[in-house]
Amino acid sequence: RTRVTAVKGRCLNLLTNGPFCFRRVNRDCLIIITQQSRFVNTFFHFFENIFSGCFFLIIKPDCVLGLATGDTPIGMYNELVAKYEAGEIDFSAVRSINLDEYYPISPDNDQSYRYFMNKHLFDRVNIDKANTRVPDGTAENVREFCSAYEAHLDALGGTDVQVLGIGRNGHIGFNEPADEFTAGTYKVKLTDSTIEANKIYFDHEEDVPRYAITMGVESIINAKEIILIAEGKAKAQAIHDMIKGEISPSCPASILQKHDNVHIFIDKDAASLL
Ligand code: F6R
Repeated sequence: RTRVTAVKGRCLNLLTNGPFCFRRVNRDCLIIITQQSRFVNTFFHFFENIFSGCFFLIIKPDCVLGLATGDTPIGMYNELVAKYEAGEIDFSAVRSINLDEYYPISPDNDQSYRYFMNKHLFDRVNIDKANTRVPDGTAENVREFCSAYEAHLDALGGTDVQVLGIGRNGHIGFNEPADEFTAGTYKVKLTDSTIEANKIYFDHEEDVPRYAITMGVESIINAKEIILIAEGKAKAQAIHDMIKGEISPSCPASILQKHDNVHIFIDKDAASLL
């Protein structure tokens, strides 16, 4: 459980003086709530100041980034691109691995997560695309593909930092509410709530793929550090359940309560039920 045990004065000052409202912090978990959602995605700047010297791309230029897609991290990718363009960070040695991809879907489809990553990050920085992985939405033998994806994750030594969004139903990656927490990468049937949330991106609801390939919950929480970001009232219940609810696969994100290095960046709306 998230416990309020210690407050580092420096963090507190920085956070209360800036656009952020500090809500609670302990040794392991920091929750930062912004007054306005437009600040959520500028968190890298603050992250760098708060944990000066710990900014992962600077201290570990060959770090392994676990990446997410969706609306929420777009601003974060813009921030990273701005830092790259300013010469502050370099992606030439970075390796990345994405959480998930629809199945079936072609990488050229503009709704595929491979397309998304190229558009929002990979084509805009000096990352070597050979060092990037997104699950293959065209894999013929999905089971074999999933084992190979896990083996690749292991070969990378796991992710140094995993970026996560959260679904309205508490999903992380495409790990939907279930009876048990999932383990490694696997093919999942999407729930009606996720299809409903994602249909706005497709011309017709029937076009939304009904399956996805996703890293399992266990692969996700093996990350050395996790950054979860969320904005808006639609995420408030999921954020509440993740932080204050029981650790239960009915809210897959609640597993983060067990991780010892999580930073949660949310706006006031997403924090409204805390
Ligand atoms: C995407 C992913 C999903 C999203 C979640 C929130 O790679 O893993 O779990 O993070 O569905 O999506 P947005 O940000 O669009 O609200």
